[in-house]
Amino acid sequence: MIEGSEPPNTRAVEAPAKLNLFLRVLGRRPDGFHDLETVVLPLDLADRLVVHAARDPSFRTRSLSLTVDGDPDLTRGVPGDETNLVVVAAEALAERAGVRGFAEITLEKRVPPAAGLGGGSGDAAATLRVLNDLWGCGLSDSELVAVAAQVGSDVPALLPGRPALARGRGELVEPVSVPELSWLLVTFDFGVSTRDAFGWWDEDGAVTGPDPGALMDPGRHGALEAAGTNPRALAALVHNDLEAPVTRRHPRVGRALELLRGAGAPTGIMCGSGPSVAGLLPRVGEPFDRSVEGELMGVSGRRPRWVSSRGSAPAGRP
Ligand code: C5P
Repeated sequence: MIEGSEPPNTRAVEAPAKLNLFLRVLGRRPDGFHDLETVVLPLDLADRLVVHAARDPSFRTRSLSLTVDGDPDLTRGVPGDETNLVVVAAEALAERAGVRGFAEITLEKRVPPAAGLGGGSGDAAATLRVLNDLWGCGLSDSELVAVAAQVGSDVPALLPGRPALARGRGELVEPVSVPELSWLLVTFDFGVSTRDAFGWWDEDGAVTGPDPGALMDPGRHGALEAAGTNPRALAALVHNDLEAPVTRRHPRVGRALELLRGAGAPTGIMCGSGPSVAGLLPRVGEPFDRSVEGELMGVSGRRPRWVSSRGSAPAGRP
């Protein structure tokens, strides 16, 4: 289906994956979650959702259905039932806005699950945006963020579709200015659960990395923009506190990071709770030693791919 040529009440949208430019874990909270500071960058790697939905007062309740499509390698383990975050999100929004009607959703997976790339969370964020529209819920951005936070910690930061600074357990989101960046993304033939990664951080002594200082000051987000134009300056500032705990349990993650850095990437970072890692390109249009792609495939069991992270919209553009 060509975007924009869908039948009435139908919308086809991309649900971008993300990487975390940096991720600080500040501490475990009484509710078992962890307080974070992280910058989330949407990628041009995305799942695709086709949503056919309408409000219909003649329905006594609501009817939600989900079909999961895609390469069996990617869809294995992705639930097609009410535990999928797409359905959790649709249900949460319907509940919040008192919707009676239906939604039939087809999810085409392209983003590996349990990879630290926010695949399921991105799908949930896209579902909320589209259904808010098709169901005519009329929720404001901040009301949608509140529903997103109920669905999962990563969902609020993925709602805007542009770089975001997230705090709290992920639900306190503000825009941040980061230019478009290019990466070599390495995914693995195994997954890591977010819950495990945070548990390992606790077990290993709860180490919080350096404070990116000025970058975290909301009044000075321009500093991040400036550093972003110089990947080597940016490299000095990026860090993921979950990287050491995950690498300890999965040495292949550490090996892939070494290969990326050895090939000339100013920095290699683990994405979210892992295991995916990404190497930053030294300069846009200047790939590093490409022979590393074969070695990375040997380590990860997957072909690495070149991706771009979305930049912030220039001032004045939505
Ligand atoms: O919010 P979400 O369901 O995605 O989180 C999955 C699990 O990851 C949580 O149950 C929790 O164990 C862990 N987590 C955490 N702190 C966060 C986000 C997630 O401890 N900020």
